[in-house]
Amino acid sequence: MKIKKAIIPAAGLGTRVLPASKSVPKEMLNIVDKPAIQYLVEEAANSGIEDILIITNRGKGVIEDHFDHSFELEAQLAGRPGKEQLYESVKRCADLANIYFVRQKETKGLAHAVLAGKSFIGNEPFAILYGDDVTINYEDPVTAQMCRCYEKYGKGIVGVKSVPRELIHLYCSLGVSPIEGEQRLMNCHKIIEKPKEEEIMSLYAILGRVVMPPEVFERIEKGLAQTPEGREFYLTDVFSDMGREGKLLAYDFDGRRYDMGNKMGIMKANCEVALDHPEIGAEFREYIKDLAGRI
Ligand code: UTP
Repeated sequence: MKIKKAIIPAAGLGTRVLPASKSVPKEMLNIVDKPAIQYLVEEAANSGIEDILIITNRGKGVIEDHFDHSFELEAQLAGRPGKEQLYESVKRCADLANIYFVRQKETKGLAHAVLAGKSFIGNEPFAILYGDDVTINYEDPVTAQMCRCYEKYGKGIVGVKSVPRELIHLYCSLGVSPIEGEQRLMNCHKIIEKPKEEEIMSLYAILGRVVMPPEVFERIEKGLAQTPEGREFYLTDVFSDMGREGKLLAYDFDGRRYDMGNKMGIMKANCEVALDHPEIGAEFREYIKDLAGRI
C-alpha cells in the first residue's frame, strides 16, 4: 500500500532554543533562506506524500501563514523584471502538498501530539516527520527510503543513526539484529529511552523519521490512559512494545540530519546547507576558509 499521508508534530515549546523560539516557533527558524519546516514539507512531498497534517498550538499561526498564499506579496512580485524566481518561490510554498492543521491543546509530549492526527490518518499507514528534525538527501529523500521499506515489509519502521556513545543518554538506545540480504534495515526488538550506561544496547537512536501502521493510535491512547497525571508517556514506549511483538524494524537512513531543536544543530544546518547553496555557496565557502585561517 502506497503511503500518502504524513504528520508533522510542531507543537513543542522549544525551550532549548529560547529566547529565539519565544515568539517564533523553532520549526520556523531559518536554514539559509527557508524555515526548517519547509524542508520537511518538501521532503514529504518529494516522497510521494499528498496530505500533510501539521500539529501546532497557540502562537504557531505563522506556520499556517507560511504555507498559504500571500496575495499582497505575490501581486507585488508578479511580472517584475528580475523577480521571477522570487515570485515562484513564494507562490510555491502554498502549493507543495495538501496541508492541514490541527492544534494540540495541551503540550503533553510527542505521543500526545501525534494522537491529534488519529482521525486525519484513519486506517492507513503514515509517516511522521518530527518537526525540528531536518534530513537532507535531495536525490532520495529519507521519507521516501522509509516508505519503500514499509511497503516491502509491512512493519513499523523507525529511522535511526548511530550517535556518539557520550551522547546516547540524551536519546534512546535500540536492541537490533540483522536481516539477511539487507544493508540498512534491521529487526528492532527493544528500545530504552534515555539509557543509563549499563542499558546501552547499541548506539542506534531514533532520529526524527518513522513510518507506522494506524494501530499506533490505539497503543498511544492506552499508554496515555495508564500514565499518571504529570508524567510524560513516550512515543518510544509504543515503538518498544511493537519491537517486543516482532512488529518493528529500524532503518539506518541515508542522509544528513540536523537537530533544529538545539543551538549547535541550527548552526551546523545553516553552515552545511549554505556551502551547497546555488546562490551563496561559492562565496560562503571562501568566507569559511578565510575564517578558519583566522581562528
Ligand atoms: P522535542 O521534545 O524536541 O520538542 O519534540 P520540545 O518539547 O519543543 O523541545 P524542548 O525540550 O522544549 O527544547 C520533537 C518534536 O515534537 C514536537 C516538537 O514541536 C518537535 O517538533 N512536540 C513536542 C509536539 O508537537 N508536542 C509536544 O507536546 C512536544
